[in-house]
Amino acid sequence: MIFKTILEPFRIKTVERIRLTTQEERETFLQEAHYNPFLLHSDQVIIDLLTDSGTSAMSSEQWAGIMRGDESYAGASSWLRMEKAVQELTGCPYILPTHQGRAAEHLLYSRIGGAGKVFISNTHFDTTRANIEFTGATAVDIPIAENRDPALFTPIQGKPGHGALKEKIALYGAENIAAVILTVTNNSGGGQPVSMENARHTAEICRQHKILFILDACRIAENAWFIRHREPGLEHKTYRKIAQEMFALADGCIMSAKKDALVNMGGFLALRDLDLAVLCRTVLIVTEGFSTYGGLSGRDMEAIAIGLEEVFEPDYLNYRIKSTAYLADKLHALGIPIMRPAGGHAVYVDARAFYPDIPLDQYPGQVMACELYRLGGIRCCEIGSVMFGKYDAGGQLIPATMDLVRLAIPRRVYTQSHIDYVAEVFGELTKHRSNKKGLKIVYEPPFLRHFTARFELV
Ligand code: F0G
Repeated sequence: MIFKTILEPFRIKTVERIRLTTQEERETFLQEAHYNPFLLHSDQVIIDLLTDSGTSAMSSEQWAGIMRGDESYAGASSWLRMEKAVQELTGCPYILPTHQGRAAEHLLYSRIGGAGKVFISNTHFDTTRANIEFTGATAVDIPIAENRDPALFTPIQGKPGHGALKEKIALYGAENIAAVILTVTNNSGGGQPVSMENARHTAEICRQHKILFILDACRIAENAWFIRHREPGLEHKTYRKIAQEMFALADGCIMSAKKDALVNMGGFLALRDLDLAVLCRTVLIVTEGFSTYGGLSGRDMEAIAIGLEEVFEPDYLNYRIKSTAYLADKLHALGIPIMRPAGGHAVYVDARAFYPDIPLDQYPGQVMACELYRLGGIRCCEIGSVMFGKYDAGGQLIPATMDLVRLAIPRRVYTQSHIDYVAEVFGELTKHRSNKKGLKIVYEPPFLRHFTARFELV
């Protein structure tokens, strides 16, 4: 008998209180936060779906590891444990620990980037793009066409279009391409998985043209779940084996451990090439710390080593992916336009389709994020024209390709009743859909404006 209930495969040993605010209180908090959920205080939030990054609940084994953490400056046993765990998973001999993913990006991209260099990806995550552009290099996204349409139902997505990859190589010249970066799963493109077939093709093209091939692997375990359940021929392999096969295709990887290593802080860069590793290690020592701890405490490294094992447990991954799909299915049944099928770590709602009457320069995604907070205390993040919009010469908004709202699910944190509550709030949202007012920006910084921009109701 296979039961339908998605059973959380853990018991709860420690609890963290959630303050249940009233709608009246939240309206005040929202005004005080200038209609930007990033500016809310966490105790004003009931369900926090802002990010799945660094928000995981650690296991009792990880907490036990925290006590074992060896805080020696050099050669700590916790480092050796983390190094071995990462080597075994990625197959890369050279491991550089960092305090989080973007630090690992900085180590590598500051070395191989620079003016005239081009990076190509299925979609660069925003810190990836920022690290690349900061060096004067160019970051080019080539997602498959389907990724641009939030309503499209395709079995496996997130791959760079291979015709497009060859075209870009011809356009820029292989010698000018610093790296091809495959982001698995494709966070900015809807959290969609990348197939093994695609990773293999990408690797082949890179090898032919002698281009460095890097995996942005922070959600590689979730990606492996999709491959095993959707890609023919791989259904008999373990999730870990699938991940190892994908790592084996690349010259190295960057991982924010704050996602699929189930920890609150950490990351690493893993490389096959000694010369490149030595180059990056110099930056590591200057900016992060000595090469056997990077920006991490011994206890962090201990928790990463354990998390990298736990994340591949079949019961965990099943629960993880199915509970995200559970929310997606509930929202779909309510008629909420979402990207389907759901990705692994988040559900992406198409706010532009939900609020067709709100002009794009009044930020329908931001409106939805604020409404979800106002009605139900749910915090989430706009991924649309606030985050990616630009201005033309006349100061008119050039909107992003899509106006999405991301409901990112922290790992092992919320139960099914929390998720049911989120769906119920969406039910309320549909009742308050018409005559919704848009928002205008009254303050914005020059760079990464979504974190600190201030808004007013139009
Ligand atoms: N790459 C991807 C695909 C990411 O999603 C992130 C972070 C990073 C790199 C950078 O890692 O935060 O440890 O420095 N994503 C978070 C998010 C912030 O909310 O999606 P980091």
